[in-house]
Amino acid sequence: MSWLSLPQEMRILMLPDKVTMVEVGARDGLQNETGLIAVADKVRFVNLLSATGLPVIEVGSFVSPRRVPQLAETGRLFADIEQRPGVRYPVLVPNAKGLQAAMAAGARDIAFFAAASETFSQRNINCSILQSLTRLEEIAAVALPMGLRIRGYLSCVAGCPYEGAIAVDAVAELAARLIELGCYEVSLGDTIGVGSPGTIRPLLEAVLRQVPGERLAVHFHDTYGQALANILVALEAGIAVVDSSVAGLGGCPYAPGATGNVASEDVLYMLQGLGIETGVSLDALIEAGLYVSRLLNRLTGSRVARARDVARDGACQPDRPHAQGRCD
Ligand code: HMG
Ligand code: MG
Repeated sequence: MSWLSLPQEMRILMLPDKVTMVEVGARDGLQNETGLIAVADKVRFVNLLSATGLPVIEVGSFVSPRRVPQLAETGRLFADIEQRPGVRYPVLVPNAKGLQAAMAAGARDIAFFAAASETFSQRNINCSILQSLTRLEEIAAVALPMGLRIRGYLSCVAGCPYEGAIAVDAVAELAARLIELGCYEVSLGDTIGVGSPGTIRPLLEAVLRQVPGERLAVHFHDTYGQALANILVALEAGIAVVDSSVAGLGGCPYAPGATGNVASEDVLYMLQGLGIETGVSLDALIEAGLYVSRLLNRLTGSRVARARDVARDGACQPDRPHAQGRCD
């Protein structure tokens, strides 16, 4: 029996036993940051993430350095991080040039990104949706025979900063097309964080009619504070891969007004509360989130990290990298 035909109370009972957390903090989290961070600090950040038990850690992107200066040194970063066995380290690749650079750096996992909105596609990658699919074909023709894995992102699935609402059937068709063209999985991106359970549920229903849940992931920015609720809806739908960013960092330079991804610490806390296995240590994740928050000289965006900070110390300590911000 499919999830679509089940009553709500039974969907909740069908939550997955295990979820794969995809950490995008070093890429999505940092790409929007204007103050350049030293490669050595990013290496430490990624190494801290690697120590958490996360199975997938997106490291950076091979895009135009003029467009995203923060990630211009992804090749060096990739070479310097400690790659743990069993952990995958994907990098974003927009075209054949990016693929060559990713392969030269030694990447085995790449992520291609397309959009469900024409205007966003033009602004983000300077081409139409159709042209972007041709780019994916070119990438797949080289990458797949070399044994690389291609993840697909589809942006603006719940709305576009330029066009507003996006038709769910258009999203579903594009998601299916990304799979046909060689992506092993498609991550559905609510780039501007406007979706809520009332819109995400019908969206997932439409996509699941064309793509099986095992080939889907969700990627929620938390602009409107709906991300955890949306993730719960996705879990109920049988989707078991969730993207997030420690400390709630993130944003796309071409998505004005969008805030960070849902915080990984908060996702993990919810998954633990639901009894869902991830293999990730919450303490280690909080440590990585506080490290990057210190680097950026800001408070963590993770509610769980803030709550733990207070619970551990009872009160703020002025000399600590406090998560609460109450000591200032
Ligand atoms: P283009 O069409 O060639 O035009 O680039 P351009 O004017 O943007 O750039 C031209 C220059 O970039 C040329 O250099 C190219 O050689 C060079 P010049 O001759 O002028 O010196 N170039 C490259 N350099 C390095 N690596 C490359 C590359 N390709 C061309 N791969 C391109 C097209 C896609 C490269 C460009 O538009 C671009 O870099 N866009 C950046 C997009 C981006 O990184 N956005 C953020 C990631 S997507 C996202 O965050 C959403 C996601 O999180 C999911 C969600 O939340 O929805 C994934
Ligand atoms: Mg994103």
